[in-house]
Amino acid sequence: MNEPLEELLTAVTQSPKYRAIAPDLIRRMGAAELAKRRSFKEAVKGTKNKLHQVGGAYWDTAVDYPKALARLQTAADEETRRQICRDLMRLHASTRERLPILDEFYATTLAGLPPIRSVVDVACGLNPLAIPWMPLAADVVYHAYDIYGDMLAFLQAYLGLVGINGETGAVSGRVHHQDILSQPPAEPADLALILKALPCLEQAESGAAARLLGSIQARHLLISYPAQSLGGRGKGMMENYEAQFWDLVNGTPKAASGRDWHITRFEFATELAFLVTTS
Ligand SMILES: C[S@@+](CC[C@H](N)C(=O)[O-])C[C@H]1O[C@@H](n2cnc3c(N)ncnc32)[C@H](O)[C@@H]1O
Repeated sequence: MNEPLEELLTAVTQSPKYRAIAPDLIRRMGAAELAKRRSFKEAVKGTKNKLHQVGGAYWDTAVDYPKALARLQTAADEETRRQICRDLMRLHASTRERLPILDEFYATTLAGLPPIRSVVDVACGLNPLAIPWMPLAADVVYHAYDIYGDMLAFLQAYLGLVGINGETGAVSGRVHHQDILSQPPAEPADLALILKALPCLEQAESGAAARLLGSIQARHLLISYPAQSLGGRGKGMMENYEAQFWDLVNGTPKAASGRDWHITRFEFATELAFLVTTS
């Protein structure tokens, strides 16, 4: 056992803000910080900063998940439940930014695809709450990945409540509390949702975006980027992200993986998206 690393894990998870984060990500970031900082204290601080950048910065306040679940469970009908989902999506900056375009986002980007029977939602945040807006097959299986254990437990319970296409029912699927830098999603799927996740992963580790794209086994990939930074700055961001996307596509060894990619671009007020179809 690596004692300083385990001590760092204990120190970091003493803070409620980082307690629910996947230990494999804390260890990965902590090991890098221990190697480069002069003291243990600085390494703990550096790890917390990194975790804030990739996760904590998207939350304004701690979420009361039991209360959120109770609201969803006691909703009188599907329409009320959709409204509660909208309210809850406000709690994470990434889904909050998507609310003004939610009615068109999935309807537009996924229009014309064959029935989507399996989804992997990579670095999902609260995005599974948008399932009622996604044109999915009634028998879809949904896999959601993120680093927050408390959020994922809530989302697992939510999958048992949510219906497809306005129907009452439940969605089959599973949440995965794991660091996708260390362990990328393994399930093959009709659709991978990689929404606003690549800049965040790349910030954690250079080369992470290309590695992830190279390993995902999906027929269609919906990849998106924010139109603005978390602080609200937008100037030139779209252009930068678009350039990053094309560099990534051109740099990913499609031939080696036997992939030929067809790409459609969509520009929304708050998000830039690309639907990649592999064959
Ligand atoms: C910009 S948000 C995007 C959330 C969601 N995809 C959306 O568009 O609404 C980035 C998400 O990545 C998650 N995340 C960051 N690093 C991760 C990692 N190494 N493994 C899995 N999830 C990660 C964060 O917790 C956060 O929910």
